[in-house]
Amino acid sequence: MPVTSAAPFRLAVLVSGRGSNLGALIRAQENGELQASIAGVFSDRPNCAAISLAREHGLSTFTFRPADYHSRQAFDESMFSQIESIQPDLIVCAGYMRLISESAVIRCEGRMINIHPSLLPKYPGLDTHARALAAGDREHGASVHVLTPALDSGPVIAQARVAVLPEDTSASLARRVLETEHTLLAQCVKAIAQGKVRLSEAQIRWLGTPLSSPLSLNAYAELEESK
Ligand code: GRF
Repeated sequence: MPVTSAAPFRLAVLVSGRGSNLGALIRAQENGELQASIAGVFSDRPNCAAISLAREHGLSTFTFRPADYHSRQAFDESMFSQIESIQPDLIVCAGYMRLISESAVIRCEGRMINIHPSLLPKYPGLDTHARALAAGDREHGASVHVLTPALDSGPVIAQARVAVLPEDTSASLARRVLETEHTLLAQCVKAIAQGKVRLSEAQIRWLGTPLSSPLSLNAYAELEESK
């Protein structure tokens, strides 16, 4: 959906766990860095920390229990109908850990992004930090990408790189990647809300021009074309 309206840009944020990426969006919004309203926070885990955080900040929350549905499709139909009802301009998967059915992804085509803790296409799926260490990678990081039906495979909007240190454990590496995720996600959402980044399933445009490689964060923690 093109981003054209002058009304506040509306976000639906999907979460499953700790909620630190949601926290980064809340902070960016509260300190005026991100001109958008978090219109709803959705979760497949009603008691997760992210939902508590959303409530502490007075956000509307919508929770759904997978056990109440006979299939993934039925779950997603219910949750995504509720998502549509708040009329989001952008749907942000910020640590949403449940696979989303193909029909729901197609329904939200070009309007849904995900933050993933690796330099995609490396390490889709889980345990990315341990996999980067096991492979002896010198560099690791995070990606924000457009959601497509195949897991962690949609076009990448932007990436943040983190050097792997000789003494790194999976936990220490995860901590540094997570810090950079927060900046990366907030900057990507900001750029989409401003219309600087435009999405479609097949292509991302940056300032009107098709993007040939993912954007990166510069020294001022802002998005720029990769050199
Ligand atoms: C993050 O590492 C994110 O990239 C991944 O799940 C984790 C969620 O962390 N998809 P949090 O719940 O935002 O703290």
